[in-house]
Amino acid sequence: MTANGKKDPLWFKDAIFYELSVRSFYDSNSDGIGDFPGLIQKLDYLEDLGVNALWLLPFYPSPLKDDGFDITEYCDIHPDYGTLKDFKLFLKEAHQRGIRVVTELILNHTSDQHPWFEKSRRARAGSRYKDYYVWSETTEKFKEARVIFSDEESSNWSWDNEAKAYYWHRFYRHQPELNFENPEVQHEIIKVVDFWLKLGVDGFRLSSVAFLFEKEGTSCENLPETHVFLKKLRAHIDKHYEDKILIAEANLWPEDAAAYFGKGEECHMSFNYPLMPRLFLGLRTEDTYPIIDIMEQTPGTAPNTQWALFLRNHDEIGLEMVTEEEKDYLFKAYANDPHTKHNLGIRRRLSPLLNNDRRKMELLYTILFSLPGTPVLYYGDEIGMGDNIYLGDRFGVRTPMQWNMSLNAGFSDANPQKLYLPIITDPVYRYESVNVATHEENPSSLVWWIKNVLAMRSRLNVFGRGDMKFIDSSNAKVLCFVRSYESQRIIVVANLSQFSQATTLNFSGFNDCDITEVFSQNKFKSVEGEEYAITIGPYGYFWFQADASEKKEEAIGSSELQLFKTEVSWEKVFANYHEVRVFERKILQPFMKKCRWFGGKAKIISKMGIHKVIPLRVEGDTYFLTVIEVHYVQRLPDLFPPTPFLIKWSTPRKV
Ligand code: GLC
Ligand code: CA
Repeated sequence: MTANGKKDPLWFKDAIFYELSVRSFYDSNSDGIGDFPGLIQKLDYLEDLGVNALWLLPFYPSPLKDDGFDITEYCDIHPDYGTLKDFKLFLKEAHQRGIRVVTELILNHTSDQHPWFEKSRRARAGSRYKDYYVWSETTEKFKEARVIFSDEESSNWSWDNEAKAYYWHRFYRHQPELNFENPEVQHEIIKVVDFWLKLGVDGFRLSSVAFLFEKEGTSCENLPETHVFLKKLRAHIDKHYEDKILIAEANLWPEDAAAYFGKGEECHMSFNYPLMPRLFLGLRTEDTYPIIDIMEQTPGTAPNTQWALFLRNHDEIGLEMVTEEEKDYLFKAYANDPHTKHNLGIRRRLSPLLNNDRRKMELLYTILFSLPGTPVLYYGDEIGMGDNIYLGDRFGVRTPMQWNMSLNAGFSDANPQKLYLPIITDPVYRYESVNVATHEENPSSLVWWIKNVLAMRSRLNVFGRGDMKFIDSSNAKVLCFVRSYESQRIIVVANLSQFSQATTLNFSGFNDCDITEVFSQNKFKSVEGEEYAITIGPYGYFWFQADASEKKEEAIGSSELQLFKTEVSWEKVFANYHEVRVFERKILQPFMKKCRWFGGKAKIISKMGIHKVIPLRVEGDTYFLTVIEVHYVQRLPDLFPPTPFLIKWSTPRKV
């Protein structure tokens, strides 16, 4: 739903995603493993951070040999994480806070302990379950397919003694590939999709989607059959549901990754894998070229689609999509300890990759929040969490979330030895100092910085919806582009260098514009002529709002309070936590920002809510005298309005 209660199929364009694993987030029953009841308790934190969509890593029954990407039952919850009932409650609580929930659809493979595989390996040729998986008598088939988990596996075929045949797998040997040539397998997956969508899930990340089909003489990736299946899946979803999305995990070159959008009739989103390592490359080489070059190679996509942008996730930084030269450079620059290498990539969290340099983190986040696409944050990176490169596989970036300085970083009350993975105790990143509570207490912390930028970004829908054009900069260390949407134009300037830089930007499109720096609301010099000279500090960045001079006094819009519909009896609305939050978010905040008397518009708002309500009876009608409290970044809060106003409540008449 949008703020005014309407459905919006393009909601994902304005979303801020947060990727998390239920088992890493918060343990409610002291068994050392995070769970759904625990996650529910932390939803307020996520809402406050400013994210409005969650991407949950797998939480299904599984032997957890690939952290849950090895499923034994598609339509249930792993008992460590709770029950289906807990999941439903979680979904309801998230939705009440305006947070959507996207889950993993692991359609490419199952665990070798899945009942389908157990049946398949025993089935006779021609019987029902045999063709659920891909079997062969030799390992000679599909020779051109690369081995992805090259550190652990040497072949895509493994021998099964029971079946007396080889089975096909692109990842670990315990993850046999489902056979998508078999219509029954496709049907099973659609049943899984129906199960979760009917529960109210808002969409899926289609993991390993590039590998669904195999064909002799090809790389067995990205085959046309995969796109045919995706169109079918999308048509099914569009026919039966509203506002649901599909996100492709396809680590490919821009053209191929964009193919997962189809013409707008396949996936709604696709992760921008080629861009991500080039942000790190650009930063380290202090050169905008890798970023501009990859963006220019990225094709335009249908209006109902959007790239998902990320800096880090639960996997290694895969370097498949860079040249050999770039790979060598990235390994040298970011992975000089061999423990940080994994398969063809680098297994590190954001902060250790950037030497815990706050300026670099801010810079990369600013670029991430500014480029065309929907940003996806990885849990823990908002507090600059560290990693543990000695844990094996990718576990080093999957350790428990650090909430406070108490036992187990406040993640769990269990015996520390019982935790599913140890807490980070590295001297630089130790949980006693790197945790949510310390960050929240310090208004200069990274968490506060992220909250502020996200709050500002949500006021400028140009970033989620607008188009983008690079602006020439005379200095190759300074990146500059403009985002435009309707009448909004934001110019983004970012200095990739560790030193201050001077540059001249080509502002020919902004003749006579006034330039306002978005965060401070400070006026910079107006544009006269084509050239705009600026200086910018080390790893500095600007968001400049460009307004045509005559449009300076933009219409503020109507300040009418919208109708608020609720199931709760109106007398009890203000006593109901959820209703108050929904009212604040959907009605109050947009309303306040439009009011002429609201002087806080120029300051960075961190939080806005109802401070006090006093019921009043006036001439037989009930009113609520409502005082609003607005918190700002590093400034004292204000109470609004300066003169109290009355909100009139009425009960709808029964028809
Ligand atoms: C996806 C996941 C990764 C997993 C792989 C194989 O790529 O992101 O974590 O290991 O699938 O299951
Ligand atoms: Ca638990």
